[in-house]
Amino acid sequence: MRFIIFALVCIGFVLTEEPFHYDGYKVYQIIPKTVDEAYYLRSLNEAPEFDFWAQPRALNATVTVMVSPGTQASFENDLLAKNMDFSVIIDDVESTVQDENFRQSRTRSVARGSVSFTYFMRYDEIVSYLYTIAEAYPNIVQLLVIGQSYEGRDIVGVRISGGSGTNRPEILVDAGIHAREWIAPPVALYIINQLVENTANGYLSQDVDWVIIPSLNPDGYEFTHTNTRLWRKTRTPNTSCYGVDPNRNFDYHWMLTGASDNQCSEIYAGPTPFSEKETQALKDYLSANEDRIKLYLTFHSYGNYLLYPWGYTSALPDNNDELYALGVKVNNAIRAVSGTNYIIGTSTNVLYAAAGGSDDYVKGVNGVDLAYCIELPGGGNTGFNPAATSIWPIVQETWEGVKAYHDYIKEKYV
Ligand code: ARG
Ligand code: ZN
Repeated sequence: MRFIIFALVCIGFVLTEEPFHYDGYKVYQIIPKTVDEAYYLRSLNEAPEFDFWAQPRALNATVTVMVSPGTQASFENDLLAKNMDFSVIIDDVESTVQDENFRQSRTRSVARGSVSFTYFMRYDEIVSYLYTIAEAYPNIVQLLVIGQSYEGRDIVGVRISGGSGTNRPEILVDAGIHAREWIAPPVALYIINQLVENTANGYLSQDVDWVIIPSLNPDGYEFTHTNTRLWRKTRTPNTSCYGVDPNRNFDYHWMLTGASDNQCSEIYAGPTPFSEKETQALKDYLSANEDRIKLYLTFHSYGNYLLYPWGYTSALPDNNDELYALGVKVNNAIRAVSGTNYIIGTSTNVLYAAAGGSDDYVKGVNGVDLAYCIELPGGGNTGFNPAATSIWPIVQETWEGVKAYHDYIKEKYV
């Protein structure tokens, strides 16, 4: 037993201390033209050598996939044998990651306890900002610790409430459930910043409470900064690989579709539903507050999708018309800023089927009618690597959409 623990500690040490490099990793784009071609691409979905940045979702829709160096030759041979056209959009992923590191270090400068939208803040900076505003604005901000991550980090959020009364509708927002989707936490932080520190926005928390959790998977997030830029999952050690896809780990039609039981897969659903402390923490928060929550927003990236349930079935939810119409309002508000346009629809119908997501759970189990998974814009060719200079435009345009959500909730429930 001692030896096993020792061995695990060594493996853990090696895996966590040694930065991972993407030398020779390539990113391919392929446009499936037949059902067979789409099925072939889909069959690679669970394999650890393939990391789908944009999944096969429809015929003639572009698929984007990162492939490890040792697999590229056989992959290209397969594509050629099937007569499928492809292009290589990134020849060496490592160079894009380095480029981003450079942009970040160049722009990094902020006082502790304040917020910045010119670089990607680390977990401890995010937390100290939340503590600071909770202290500075005790009448409207309450700090929440909804649980701890596997590695023991607090999962921190704030409740923002500018009025009184007990039966106020609540808007619940989270971000960062997928570690590498770096643009999501700044969007959540900007919502907090605007609600609390911009007095002109006081009316937005007058009748509605907001609960905002900017970094739901802090272990994974820190790991993307210190070690493996494109890490997606939690950091729970399993027997052969680390991490569970937290957005496949919720207990609603768990493992039914679009999820894997392979520990090394990017979409590993976990040994059991809610195996992860991070998803358990959100579950506990949800069950304690489900009667008040009227809207749930979970921020991801990338691809410009306003998704709503269901992800486990192609059947439409009973309030599909309402979910779609509200999505259109939000999209219009965002598009008015600088033309950014989102595709709106159910996860299964506009993206792909995947069960065990937080949005499906919140709607299906907690009974929250309105739940959206928002896939924010990506960073050009480099997807999960938006330039630090694009944080500003993205948080600002998204904020307009968030206000449109608020207006609807206030109108409907207050
Ligand atoms: N990109 C997200 C994911 O793969 C989309 C999730 C949409 N929701 C869902 N329940 N499938 O996790
Ligand atoms: Zn995601």
